[in-house]
Amino acid sequence: MNFSAVVVAAGSGLRAGPGEPKAWRLLGGKPIVRWSVEGLLSGGAREVVVVVARDRLGQVDEALAGLERWKAVTGGRTRAESVQAGLAALSGARNQPVLVHDAARPFVTRAHVERLLAGLEVADGAIPTLPVPDTLKRGEGLVDETVSRDGLWRAQTPQAFRIGRLKAAYRRWPTSEEPTDDAAVMERAGGQVAMIPGDPMLMKLTFPEDFLLAEQLAASRRIVRTGLGIDAHRFGQGDVVWLCGIRIEHDLGLIGHSDADAGLHALTDAVLGAIGEGDIGEHFPPSDPRWRGASSDQFLRHAVSLLASHGGRVLNADVTLICERPKIRPHRDVMRARIAELLDVPVQRVSVKATTTEGMGFTGREEGIMAQAVVSVETPL
Ligand code: CTP
Ligand code: MG
Repeated sequence: MNFSAVVVAAGSGLRAGPGEPKAWRLLGGKPIVRWSVEGLLSGGAREVVVVVARDRLGQVDEALAGLERWKAVTGGRTRAESVQAGLAALSGARNQPVLVHDAARPFVTRAHVERLLAGLEVADGAIPTLPVPDTLKRGEGLVDETVSRDGLWRAQTPQAFRIGRLKAAYRRWPTSEEPTDDAAVMERAGGQVAMIPGDPMLMKLTFPEDFLLAEQLAASRRIVRTGLGIDAHRFGQGDVVWLCGIRIEHDLGLIGHSDADAGLHALTDAVLGAIGEGDIGEHFPPSDPRWRGASSDQFLRHAVSLLASHGGRVLNADVTLICERPKIRPHRDVMRARIAELLDVPVQRVSVKATTTEGMGFTGREEGIMAQAVVSVETPL
């Protein structure tokens, strides 16, 4: 879709209590600003300008690692200044739609984006709004009056405008006043703002208790997926075999294009399988001379970084090596530690088992070694 986005993340999050500013806190293991940027990118944004405090410019690369089509600029003292800094950095044409979004609303989705862009077709702005469910009181300790909630709505973000129109509206806004959203600026400039049905999921994380609720919501938006990998390599001449990233002296070697580490190959296929990303042969063709004699840990690392680019992480891995010899047990703990390092999980989440086939079949005749691996991963829904 042809729209740009500005994500404002330069606030200090005072109402959220002690700790990092909101955008940098983790939700489901991921910085909140990343949730918002990912939501807009998967909604089809062609460019996202992320507005951050000056001292966070270094951190934003890490928080948004692996994502594309974004850049960061420095924000201002107020939200309105931050929004204007973001607008100034947009590369889109005057007439292009822009969605201005609070980083502190992490659960934005493509469906929200589509509704807002449709609303913008008929107005100068479109904003998500929700009815006010509670009775409203004015007062300070004691109630002065009950305020009618007739015709009152809560405004959320993202808010949609056209770039040129919104910039012009901000230029006309009196510097003595402080708008609380962008629609207010457009309204003051005489623009028509369409009210689109909002969504409780677009809530803004503001107070400490909001983060507990958000953590539960985040968990419900992730799923567990499982992948299976199987590999076998033939014995040949040699005096060493590589298994699960460990060098083991043996009276035979394993034949393969790379280092023939059947354990790591099975694991790599299991990770790729869990995210539907094909198999090891597709990513590292045996015909490619680059992988001749290659150490297989780079295959597994690649699969894990692909998983990370899907927003996922490994939960656990279970490998079974099937051979009569070499004996695996003496090496099991080192193997587990090495795999844990490659998968970036605690060693307790990794299991390495071994079995013989009681002399039966190709493993029983010691013609080769087989490995099977099952990996569970967690990814966004
Ligand atoms: N924001 C910003 N620049 C500012 C102030 C706010 O970019 N000078 C951003 C915040 O990072 C947030 C959004 O505007 O994503 C909405 O503001 P708010 O919820 O008020 O966040 P904070 O200002 O960070 O929090 P608080 O008001 O509690 O200090
Ligand atoms: Mg604020």
